[in-house]
Amino acid sequence: MKRAPSPLSLVLAGCLSLGALLSASAASKPKAKAAEAKGGPGLPAPDYLPEDARALLRKKMARHGQDARDLMFSVTLLRYDVARATAERIAAEPRIDRPQAGSEDEPAAFLPERFFVLQDEVRRRAQAVAAAAGKKDDAALSESYGLLVQTCVSCHSVYLKRE
Ligand code: HEC
Repeated sequence: MKRAPSPLSLVLAGCLSLGALLSASAASKPKAKAAEAKGGPGLPAPDYLPEDARALLRKKMARHGQDARDLMFSVTLLRYDVARATAERIAAEPRIDRPQAGSEDEPAAFLPERFFVLQDEVRRRAQAVAAAAGKKDDAALSESYGLLVQTCVSCHSVYLKRE
């Protein structure tokens, strides 16, 4: 007799078919596919930022894509060690310093103050994810991950709209 699929295997099947769907839709758009090959579709360009300043920032942020994937899968699938290591890596990422007075043309000088506030917040929230993964506390893991992702989106929003 066939056993009924467990809830976890249903979740896994759901994730896998979502993945298949996403890659199928990427494959149908050649431009999106080329961007994927470079590590992700990336953020749209903010209109206030000079191209060379953006290039510098992009380079600094290039690891976000891999970290985002690793964290999403490891938290979702309760792979505590990977989740903890990835969250610690995010927390330890070098930060962009606030601009010094008199250096108006460095990339940081174009960024809004809130960018730097969120940069600190993401560190604290990533530390909370690492702690929850370390304790194998599933409820704390899902909640802290949700809060962390809020900060990710907030910063991208502030960055694009310069609020
Ligand atoms: C302090 C602000 C800030 C925070 C916090 C932040 N990001 Fe980013 N992120 C950026 C900037 C700036 C870029 C580069 C934007 C560009 O391409 O112009 C970026 C780029 C990215 C990219 C695209 C990378 C690529 O290859 O183009 C991904 C994916 C990403 N971030 C994910 C995340 C995730 C996940 C988090 C939270 C864990 C996060 N970011 C937190 C500012 C931030």
